[in-house]
Amino acid sequence: MGKDVIIACDFSSREAVLSFLDRFGGEARKPFVKIGMELFYGAGPEIVREIKRRGHSIFLDLKLCDIPNTVKKSMAVLRDLDVDMTNLHAFGTIEMMKAAIEGLTRPDGTRPLLIAVTQLTSTSEERMRRELLIDRPLPDVVARYARNAREAGLDGVVCSPLESPTVHENCGAGFLTVTPGVRFADGAVGDQVRVTTPARARVLGSDYIVVGRPITAAEDPVAAYRRCMEEFVG
Ligand code: C5P
Repeated sequence: MGKDVIIACDFSSREAVLSFLDRFGGEARKPFVKIGMELFYGAGPEIVREIKRRGHSIFLDLKLCDIPNTVKKSMAVLRDLDVDMTNLHAFGTIEMMKAAIEGLTRPDGTRPLLIAVTQLTSTSEERMRRELLIDRPLPDVVARYARNAREAGLDGVVCSPLESPTVHENCGAGFLTVTPGVRFADGAVGDQVRVTTPARARVLGSDYIVVGRPITAAEDPVAAYRRCMEEFVG
């Protein structure tokens, strides 16, 4: 898979997400979509199958983090949903990440892409030090967690586009960076803090950008999606 725009479908009901996706019926290729906790908990696993049947690639963003055995068994359940990409927290350790890969791997040896959250972009260095007792600079923690993920055999990490160059330097150009926090130059920032445009994310080397409200809340979501594709993929 090459560079792509993933639409974050942060809706809480089946009806809302399906009527949103109906608007993309005219696209030559159905957009890659992200299903997060809100939709998965609200609509259940069947929504994943339904969106897949409509021809979309799916990033299932459930950010697992638990003891290795539980994560392995849960990943085996997600494997059967036939998603294209899913994720976990690198914080769960290399052992947990390796167990996740075992659970996710199909009998024929193939598996969905598996990526790790390093530090959430909502966590500041100050909070990390004060609450989590991690005394290192945040970029060092992101780089170390990314290296752990690579060592465990994962395909990449979720990070800020601003961290894509560091991750690629530490883990190689082929290690994927999946980056939220994207806004159009003339758009609203909302609650995101460190944002970049799709064009800038491309320059920084992000492999996938995850875009929610700039598309879902746009007056014309299809036009906003096309603009993202144009700026990011070209
Ligand atoms: O609406 P917006 O473009 O801000 O949506 C970004 C999406 O990426 C949301 O689904 C959010 O949960 C997700 N995300 C994020 N920052 C992270 C990890 C995931 O914004 N570090």
